[in-house]
Amino acid sequence: MIKRLWAKLGISSTPKASSLPADNVPQHVAIIMDGNGRWAKKRGLPRMAGHHSGMKTVKRITIAADRLGVKYLTLYAFSTENWKRPKAEVDFLMKLPQQFLDIELDELVANNVQVRMMGSRENLPSHTLSALEEAISKTAGNTGLVLNFALNYGSRMEMLDAVRGIAKDVRAGKLDIDAITDQVMSDRLLSGGMPDPDLLIRTSGELRLSNFMLWQLAYSELWFTDVYWPEFTEKHFYEAIGQYQQRARRYGGL
Ligand code: FPP
Repeated sequence: MIKRLWAKLGISSTPKASSLPADNVPQHVAIIMDGNGRWAKKRGLPRMAGHHSGMKTVKRITIAADRLGVKYLTLYAFSTENWKRPKAEVDFLMKLPQQFLDIELDELVANNVQVRMMGSRENLPSHTLSALEEAISKTAGNTGLVLNFALNYGSRMEMLDAVRGIAKDVRAGKLDIDAITDQVMSDRLLSGGMPDPDLLIRTSGELRLSNFMLWQLAYSELWFTDVYWPEFTEKHFYEAIGQYQQRARRYGGL
């Protein structure tokens, strides 16, 4: 009701990028990009059309995050569980990084964006891996936004690998049990060296983490929207950031 009244008066209840305080922009935003399939179904389109459209949203939100001054943008593009989908859909999803980078890599380079990948390289088709490796090496020296694709990523797998590495070092006498701290664990995760996400966004109305950055999200602010990923715009992104900026982060304190 109020929103409609504001719209009539030409006032938007959603913050614009310029109205968001620049001194409280989240350093790291992580996004579970969900709802591609449902978006397509609602329009009578094949699921792949939803993923293709979702790729365009990746571009939109990368630009918006960069302009706002976000330093790290982590996007959940393919989970270790997504291999269970029909082969045709998996094949299509595995083509997206290459398609995206074929079109966007030059612009990412020009805009000082650094591309990274967080996930297991095992089982990735060679065309997917080589497109990513090319982007990673071409942008390695860039100092702007870090665009981190979580691809073939699973948080439990990541934590188990880290724990195995720690156990091996303890057994070899390289690491003292008492020296195993939060930081030691964080450093051994695939996100090692990056700050934990300040804000997690999940689209499509689902209220779960789906094996995504379970360690790293311990103190993150969570923001959920019913909007499907292909229709997620800058406006929704600014709304999430605006709400994040109004929250008091206490990290267990008062
Ligand atoms: C979840 O939606 C989405 C995915 C499993 C894939 C996400 C991938 C993209 C948005 C494109 C990635 C682009 C690049 C550049 C790597 P869903 O299919 O589970 O949707 P549903 O729950 O409605 O079926």
